[in-house]
Amino acid sequence: LEYLEKDIKEIIIDEETLQARIKELGKEITESYPEGTELILICILRGAMIYMADLARCINLPVSFDFMDVSSYGDSTESSGNVRIIKDLDDSIENKDVLIVEDIIDTGLTLKHIINMLETRNPASIKTTTLLDKPDRREMKQVEVDFNGFEIPDKFVVGYGLDFAEKYRNLPFIGVLKESLYS
Ligand code: PRP
Ligand code: MN
Ligand code: MG
Repeated sequence: LEYLEKDIKEIIIDEETLQARIKELGKEITESYPEGTELILICILRGAMIYMADLARCINLPVSFDFMDVSSYGDSTESSGNVRIIKDLDDSIENKDVLIVEDIIDTGLTLKHIINMLETRNPASIKTTTLLDKPDRREMKQVEVDFNGFEIPDKFVVGYGLDFAEKYRNLPFIGVLKESLYS
């Protein structure tokens, strides 16, 4: 996607590395549940959609999909800490095994908020997976991710679902945006 690649300073995780790690994560997730467990994958829109689409195809369990839209960043590069529920799940999760799928955990505010909210609905279990983890930025130290793809440094990354002002989500890799584009 040349029209987007010119805005990228550096590729930090290439397509092949991403796909190989997602296969491993799918296997890890599959093996962590009893055989045949019906799992609800909860995609946190919009960033997690690409990861969830690829991950779901690497999980060898009967899965179903549900979607929740929670936004805190808007068009800024900084989390506002103000988590808004824009779209709730369509189905009940009571007595169901759910896996929350996120693209990135940064401050941890979004994931913490979602876990707290879903716990009140009495699911059988809640686990979490994020493709990327920026541990240097964590504010919610008590949030633990069950299946994490990659730890990354505190740089503004885009691609593979992650945006800047809604752009770059369709890049097939994780890259660092040129500073001149947002400073
Ligand atoms: C981003 C990202 C995570 C969240 C992580 O979403 O996709 O959901 O922020 O940040 P945190 O750990 O500091 O809460 P965003 O709100 O930008 O919405 P988007 O997924 O639609 O891009
Ligand atoms: Mn998001
Ligand atoms: Mg965003």
